Amino acid sequence: MVHCVGARPNFMKAAPVIRALEARGVVQSVVHSGQHYDPALSEVFFQVLGLPEPQLNLGVGSGSHATQTAAALQGLEQAFGELDPSLVLVYGDVNSTLAGALVAAKEGLPVGHVEAGLRSFDAGMPEETNRRVTDMLADLLFVTSPEGLVHLGSEGLDRERVHFVGNPMIDTLLENMGRLQPDRQREILKLDNEYGVVTLHRPANVDDVAMARRVVRTLGRVSELVQLVVPLHPRGRRTLEEAGLVSGKNLCVIEPLDYVEFMSLVRGAQLVITDSGGIQEETTVLGVPCLTMRPNTERPITLTHGTNQLVDVDRLVDRVSSVLGGEVRTPLEGPPLWDGRAGERIANIVADWLDERGDSRHG
Ligand code: UD1
Repeated sequence: MVHCVGARPNFMKAAPVIRALEARGVVQSVVHSGQHYDPALSEVFFQVLGLPEPQLNLGVGSGSHATQTAAALQGLEQAFGELDPSLVLVYGDVNSTLAGALVAAKEGLPVGHVEAGLRSFDAGMPEETNRRVTDMLADLLFVTSPEGLVHLGSEGLDRERVHFVGNPMIDTLLENMGRLQPDRQREILKLDNEYGVVTLHRPANVDDVAMARRVVRTLGRVSELVQLVVPLHPRGRRTLEEAGLVSGKNLCVIEPLDYVEFMSLVRGAQLVITDSGGIQEETTVLGVPCLTMRPNTERPITLTHGTNQLVDVDRLVDRVSSVLGGEVRTPLEGPPLWDGRAGERIANIVADWLDERGDSRHG
């Protein structure tokens, strides 16, 4: 079987699944689309998470959605043709996820989708299309959060194909908890005792010049309340820098960090300001307040069972003040099955499924 990955958030979801499948003796390989190609967004994650070298890297790189997806479709068609996998597992909601599912389905190969059923109901978000189409094509749907079951049910997906397994991204977090060193990160970056972490990369926040200016102006005001550190994703770097995002007295713009460095930084933070999907989940588990600069989230469990709040840019300064003033959101319980064993559950289902088809020793 083949794991099809392509972009940073895929890697921490795939790692525990790969390890658990290895323990079950399933023959597997990794195909990397090359959507993310900067070492800081890709290679370092393979190293830090102990992922096996990809068998193939298709080098599709950046481009418009059509260009990037088309390159991934072509590359993956050839890769799956060569590898003839018994199953293709795709992760999350990036363009490579959609491409992997589409090629597999067209080639008559079974597809499994890890992180199925998430919906933002925001058609303007490219990932929403990727989620819907991938789920429609998948033979095995692995759901991380109970609302995913509801969404897939209301879209008429066959219940037999759907498995509620928990969250493999959280497996990776829990497994790495002992490696996190918040004090060391703070020292390396020469940060104050109290600081906030900011990550921004979504088109809605960073592609438009006027919006980027509003965001940067607001972060400037927030940095008067608490020191901010911003590991900057390459997307939007130019727009944000042109809008005035530069390191200063209380704002520290840095290169992207590796997994352990970044989670260490988050763990020691007073708060996080983000537009990422995964970070909403990770802060929920770490108990760090998270202000998500988006009008919606496909991960509402982090609002009801976690530390996350959706915040409009105009309300950000207010919200930060409240958090710094001690406003605490303490949910009664964490999200169900975010217990570090999702990878194992997925692997058991996959291995049994392959065994039933007489396929588990087949790559
Ligand atoms: C992608 C995912 C997004 C995910 C994010 C995590 C899609 C549609 N989006 O967004 O869901 O949250 O990854 O990081 O798949 N770039 C580099 N080096 C790289 C990769 C990208 O400089 O290694 C720059 C390029 O300018 C590129 C831009 O980032 O055009 C956007 O990259 P792309 O892969 O299209 O989407 P992301 O914004 O990274």
